[in-house]
Amino acid sequence: MMNRSAACIVGSLVAAAFMNQSLATLSFANGELLGGEILNIAGDVDYGAYLAGECVVCHRAGSEIPTLYNYDKTYFVDAMVRFQQGLRKNTTMRDIALQLGDEEIAALATYFERAAE
Ligand code: HEC
Repeated sequence: MMNRSAACIVGSLVAAAFMNQSLATLSFANGELLGGEILNIAGDVDYGAYLAGECVVCHRAGSEIPTLYNYDKTYFVDAMVRFQQGLRKNTTMRDIALQLGDEEIAALATYFERAAE
């Protein structure tokens, strides 16, 4: 039978695993995903590909900044809205996100949801 302290250690490990998880997906921190109205817009994939030219200067393979391909649309939109609102703090991304309207974000989300070609 597992004694009390062993059970306690197992419990802490499980808690730590959950904490890492929520740090990795910061957008989840307060439970709500933002930008639902943008998700209702049918994104134009060609327009998205055009706009993405600006993003892949930084978001490219081999750079420290991750690529955005295969990025889930819901999280993409949430991240962009958080940058816009300053809820997620990054000056570069805030400036970039503020230049984009809902149509643009929807187009980019649709484009980046796909795998890299
Ligand atoms: C000058 C470099 C630069 C450019 C250009 C740039 N980004 Fe970023 N982006 C970053 C950096 C740095 C981060 C990491 C910020 C952070 O961790 O909060 C980031 C983070 C992101 C994230 C969150 C990624 C994640 O996994 O959580 C998204 C989404 C994103 N950028 C979208 C875009 C889009 C869309 C464009 C083009 C319209 C773009 N970025 C252009 C530098 C850039």
